[in-house]
Amino acid sequence: MNNNKNMDTAFFGQPRGLSTLFFTEMWERFSYYGMRAILLFYMYYAVTEGGLGMNQTTAASVMSIYGSLVYLSSVVGGWLSDRVWGPRRTVFIGGVLIMLGHIVLAVPFGAVALYVSIALIVAGTGLLKPNVSDMVGGLYSDNDHRRDAGFSLFVFGINLGSAIAPILVPWASDGFGMKLFGNTTNFHAGFGLAAVGMFFGLLQYYFGGKKYLSNESLLPTDPISKEDKKSITKKVVLALILVAILLVIMALIGQLNVDNIVNLLTILAIALPIYYFVVMLRSKKVTKTEKSRATAYIPLFIAAAIFWGIEESGSVVLALFAQERTVLHLGNWHFEAANFQTLNPVFIMILTPFFVWLWENWKKQPSSPKKFAAGLVFAGLSYAWMAIPGILFGTSGRVSPFWLVGSWFIVEIAEMLISPIGLSITTKLAPKAYQSQMMSMWFLADAAGQAVNAQIVKYYSSATEIPYFLAVGVVSIIFGVILLAMSKKIFKLMDGVE
Ligand code: GLN
Ligand code: ALA
Repeated sequence: MNNNKNMDTAFFGQPRGLSTLFFTEMWERFSYYGMRAILLFYMYYAVTEGGLGMNQTTAASVMSIYGSLVYLSSVVGGWLSDRVWGPRRTVFIGGVLIMLGHIVLAVPFGAVALYVSIALIVAGTGLLKPNVSDMVGGLYSDNDHRRDAGFSLFVFGINLGSAIAPILVPWASDGFGMKLFGNTTNFHAGFGLAAVGMFFGLLQYYFGGKKYLSNESLLPTDPISKEDKKSITKKVVLALILVAILLVIMALIGQLNVDNIVNLLTILAIALPIYYFVVMLRSKKVTKTEKSRATAYIPLFIAAAIFWGIEESGSVVLALFAQERTVLHLGNWHFEAANFQTLNPVFIMILTPFFVWLWENWKKQPSSPKKFAAGLVFAGLSYAWMAIPGILFGTSGRVSPFWLVGSWFIVEIAEMLISPIGLSITTKLAPKAYQSQMMSMWFLADAAGQAVNAQIVKYYSSATEIPYFLAVGVVSIIFGVILLAMSKKIFKLMDGVE
């Protein structure tokens, strides 16, 4: 088996299965980021402009909690793959749910469709995203030196899909440049294109998977026993009943509304990682060294959450800035607010080769905690930068698109310092008994960051942009400095891991 794994070099020197996973994830990200690029505007545009006419603040809050849930659900997706379905089936089921989620939005059914779609895509992405990455790892035997390069190629696929979508999906909702829908935006056409993208991903996955993915990937690694099944079913049913009771009580006292649901979900997204840390640090299965490493992970987790909070606000706060405060043309070249979402993945693709070179050639390079600290400072600067146009020109007119371009450029330097490093340090600091849960922890940092966004974004508007950008930016910079001051201690706690 391992020999086979080593011999296959059909996809840029990588195993053929990588091509399948590359394109599956490329299309999945295409559908996700394409949908996100227009969703915010769909929610708050007036009904006469093709939107749902929601309040802008609520729309921004929903965008953030939605982004949080997508990563929160990866915990369930990882579990179902490990214990019940195995990664290959789990990914397929996830892909189908995601496609259905986009289809629901492609038909003009209004607000109900929005929430059904969110539920489907949250569940589907939770099933697909962690397991498709996990399967990339499974393509290589332990000593295969192509592994890192394979992951880099995979991440390139993520960004390629994420970069094309914010161009094509808004174009579809504008009638492909042919004024098919007159002067209004037909968001449903855009969501339809996202659905088509996921459909391509599924086709590719189904046929490629049959040929090039191993049969092992059809099996759960730690299949659930009969007794476990019973006790877990009981717990799940109990939890669902409790949630139902809570919702009924909220309805009875007249408090069942979007804002309160968002508040509850925020609490959940913050409580869950805390719970994981407590369980890990108290577990008898975790050795003393492992506990020290898990402790070192706590400040890094907080740093990652702050970073992702700022990075992910690109599709919310910066998207609002693009729509309300930015000149949407350069000379004769006109573009849309949604198109700005392409900048994040484009800068990742541009910056990655430089950082790969840097880490390979920098002899006395800083420790991971120091890189994280620098990342927080850059993330903070990307926000502080956005306060400048308001300070210089006031907050009521429109400013040059270069302000946003600059902000995305700075935040992507931060992403280079945090995302790839965080991913690898997470696996290395993981206690043996909690290996796969730790991988979910990485996604939970993103979920926690966006859960906080769902609360603070309520204070954002053009009128408050200067204090908003400054306050969040400064908090990030201060945490960066604290992390830098703690970095020696953290490094010690990591106990030899680098
Ligand atoms: N942009 C990354 C992706 O889509 C975010 C994932 C993460 O690590 N939080 O894969
Ligand atoms: N920034 C998004 C991700 O990290 C596109 O891949």
